[in-house]
Amino acid sequence: MRNVFVTGGAGFIGSHCVISLVKNGYKPIILDNFSNSHQSIIKKLEKITKKKIIYYNVDIRDKKKLKLIFKKHPCYAVIHCAGFKAVGESVENSVCYFENNVGSTLALLECMQKNKIYKIIFSSSATVYDDDKALPLKENGKIGNTKNPYGTSKYIIERILKDLAKSDSRWSIRIARYFNPISNHPTGLIKENPKGALNNLIPYIVKVAQKKISELKIFGKDYNTKDGTGVRDYVHIMDLADGHTAMIKKISHKKGLKIYNFGTGKGWSVLEVVKAFEKQTGISIPYKFTKRRKGDVAISICSPKKALKELNWKAKYDLDHAIIDIKKIL
Ligand code: NAD
Ligand code: UD1
Repeated sequence: MRNVFVTGGAGFIGSHCVISLVKNGYKPIILDNFSNSHQSIIKKLEKITKKKIIYYNVDIRDKKKLKLIFKKHPCYAVIHCAGFKAVGESVENSVCYFENNVGSTLALLECMQKNKIYKIIFSSSATVYDDDKALPLKENGKIGNTKNPYGTSKYIIERILKDLAKSDSRWSIRIARYFNPISNHPTGLIKENPKGALNNLIPYIVKVAQKKISELKIFGKDYNTKDGTGVRDYVHIMDLADGHTAMIKKISHKKGLKIYNFGTGKGWSVLEVVKAFEKQTGISIPYKFTKRRKGDVAISICSPKKALKELNWKAKYDLDHAIIDIKKIL
């Protein structure tokens, strides 16, 4: 059975990848410092997968500890999800964001290289795309011109990985550009559960549904979109997790660097998400419009065709299905 190291494997995306890996016959090993996740996730993952999950409480920047883990377990490939992701926080403390996101990636690459492990999947983001590009966004579209240190950190890491692939032909590098991952495993046992401040739309809607917040703030109603609110490509987290397994399955087929978008190719406005949530749950979501959030784009929708063609991956679930699964955590 092949060991796949999942950095940030206790977090929202990494933990769902762990489930998909087990389902597909791989042995995930979690490397996480629990800075934005909870150790209790491990037991939940074991309950869902019915397997013992090996994990290490380790900061990826700690090269000494990393080295010991790589020595202990033969590693087939690494899925690198560890990193900070709160946009606002990244503006307030950019050094910390670069230090953690870029620093952890460099430490990881160095350790992988020393141990002759040359297969890595990196968690990137739609945020690297230039916002004035033709929609839907394609992998070969222009990137850069990022709007905040978080986005810049993803862009810098992509550039590092590109140079690495060019300079050393042993590497198989996959860059996964996530659009808007939402929802949770259908059991509802694990979910997006950050220690820090909330950032994204769905966790806010959930808080309103649970009456922990009185109303949702909708950031802007004057975008050039169908109803004036921002449009995004929401992808079910289980689909996204299976996308990682699809990359792992094919990672040895082609060396070099490949980039994939992970989204549905369809866009939903904030108001449409609110309406869909109300329809599926029967819970009313009070909202008020506020000014635009700095750094937001009007529309972000991907072309997922490359992932279909090369990985045979396609999102199976739509927004309604994603909300049906979210109902389990309410
Ligand atoms: P998350 O915060 O839930 O998970 C990240 C995990 O990494 C956490 O468990 C955290 O404890 C861990 N971590 C952070 N720094 C670490 C370090 N130095 N050493 C060890 N562990 C560390 O975030 P997520 O939503 O699961 O995102 C995973 C990755 O995907 C991140 O790199 C994020 O930037 C990227 N991404 C997320 C989204 C999204 O909407 N969730 C969108 C695009 C890209
Ligand atoms: C955001 C980040 C992006 C990051 C991703 C994952 C910004 C500008 N972008 O993407 O870099 O990769 O999260 O962490 O922060 N909205 C509201 N009210 C809310 C929250 C969101 O109206 O309380 C709107 C937003 O304006 C947007 C949509 O909902 O139109 C989705 O927002 P969000 O879930 O934060 O995702 P992104 O902004 O697409």
